[in-house]
Amino acid sequence: MKRTSSSGGAGAGFEVRELRAEDLRNGLLETLQSLSDLEGLTPAVARQALSEMKQRPAGHNVLVAVTSEGSVIGATTLLVERKFIHAGGRVGHIEDVSVRRGHEGKGVGRALVGEAVGLARKLGCYKCILNCDPDLVGFYEKLGFARHDVGMRLDLRPRKQTPRASSRSSGTGT
Ligand SMILES: CC(C)(COP(=O)(O)OP(=O)(O)OC[C@H]1O[C@@H](n2cnc3c(N)ncnc32)[C@H](O)[C@@H]1OP(=O)(O)O)[C@@H](O)C(=O)NCCC(=O)NCCS
Repeated sequence: MKRTSSSGGAGAGFEVRELRAEDLRNGLLETLQSLSDLEGLTPAVARQALSEMKQRPAGHNVLVAVTSEGSVIGATTLLVERKFIHAGGRVGHIEDVSVRRGHEGKGVGRALVGEAVGLARKLGCYKCILNCDPDLVGFYEKLGFARHDVGMRLDLRPRKQTPRASSRSSGTGT
């Protein structure tokens, strides 16, 4: 699972690996701010969330891109859904792809999504799906994804309009 990025080119200086507890202090929250307003997420709440994720390791996989100095500069989550249809098959849901501000354009997003897809394949998924902002269709097409179906949403709480949320409103997780 450990990977030193080749898609970022020689000397890209990061690897993609599973999230570890220490990453919560080393830039994970700052990285996620590229995606969404964290709305007061504290390290304690993040630790509790991580602990719940670890109880379902086959279903919930958080990947991070980390520099050789240990700073988190990217993150994504692969959720594995077990279905009844498709002969009880599995679907990989790629969520919350996020590259830390100042680290865009170095192949981090490509490496994260590539690793999530590789992991989904390894875990027996027959497809990977995700929702994204229209501005990002080109990014995902470069990685082999194609438009399919229409994303639908029902808000169960009043939606806070942050600049990021209103401009991107992407992913089922944001
Ligand atoms: C969008 C995002 C994930 C891209 O990651 P990145 O590390 O900057 O992208 P990469 O360097 O891996 O780019 C891979 C390729 O996609 C292209 N690309 C990047 N962003 C793109 C976009 N918005 N539209 C079209 N192509 C794009 C790059 O030019 C590159 O192409 P190349 O291989 O031909 O040179 C990142 O900028 C980000 O986190 N943005 C803020 C949060 C967000 O919107 N997340 C997505 C939620 S669905």
